[in-house]
Amino acid sequence: MPFDSLKSRVNTILANEAETVDQRLTEICELLQTTVGYYDWVGFYFANEAERTLHLRAFAGEPTDHTVIPFGKGICGQVAESNQNFVVPDVKAQTNYIACSIYVKAEIVIPLFKEGKNIGQIDIDSNTANPFSVEDERFLEWVNTQIAEIL
Ligand code: SME
Repeated sequence: MPFDSLKSRVNTILANEAETVDQRLTEICELLQTTVGYYDWVGFYFANEAERTLHLRAFAGEPTDHTVIPFGKGICGQVAESNQNFVVPDVKAQTNYIACSIYVKAEIVIPLFKEGKNIGQIDIDSNTANPFSVEDERFLEWVNTQIAEIL
């Protein structure tokens, strides 16, 4: 995996203060989606704690109808409550799952913490079955840590 070489590119994007945070988040999505072959959709959701909903803030890939997700619903909503990584090798095996595309076979959601609080998440869909390893988890945890510093 090209994760080590991606890290400097992630940092270059995040350091570009000429762009808004949302622009930089979108560029991170585009970088990951175009560089990692099995990352078919990449997005960031952020929590509205009062409403107990997640809101899509940036993405790369096909537009989704699921721009607002209640806490507890789907893989994303479960991560909003569990504060844990959720790796799904086969989405068909999940009962609490929100389908965004008929082509998606697997999904990974990694919470994003700011000062110890779960404020959002990176969500990646794959059209490849069982593609994610612990390397994806460590890399995406790292990405979220870097993003937390500009929020
Ligand atoms: N599949 C997600 C919903 C978001 S889409 O993947 C973009 C879920 O079950 O929470």
